[in-house]
Amino acid sequence: MTAVFHDLTPGIRRVSVRFGDRWLELPDGMTLAAALLAAGVSTFRRTPASGAPRGPFCMMGACHDCLVLIDGERVQACMTEVRDGLEADPAGGGA
Ligand code: FES
Repeated sequence: MTAVFHDLTPGIRRVSVRFGDRWLELPDGMTLAAALLAAGVSTFRRTPASGAPRGPFCMMGACHDCLVLIDGERVQACMTEVRDGLEADPAGGGA
């Protein structure tokens, strides 16, 4: 998976985060959306009507295109900080 975005924090502590079926080493404290984008993840959820892939757009909590599931709750990845052991899944359709 090739990242479109560059990681600007190569020296920061990294922690283990699961997204879907992959475990990733992501920068501790970075927003989950930024960290996943830098890791090459671009599809965070799919639309209910067509199943089209959606990913972060605004990065400030307004668009809801970055929704993921954490502990069964839909949360905005751009408003969620990376922490060790965080487990997230792509959200289904809807906002
Ligand atoms: S990217 Fe828009 S709400 Fe998260």
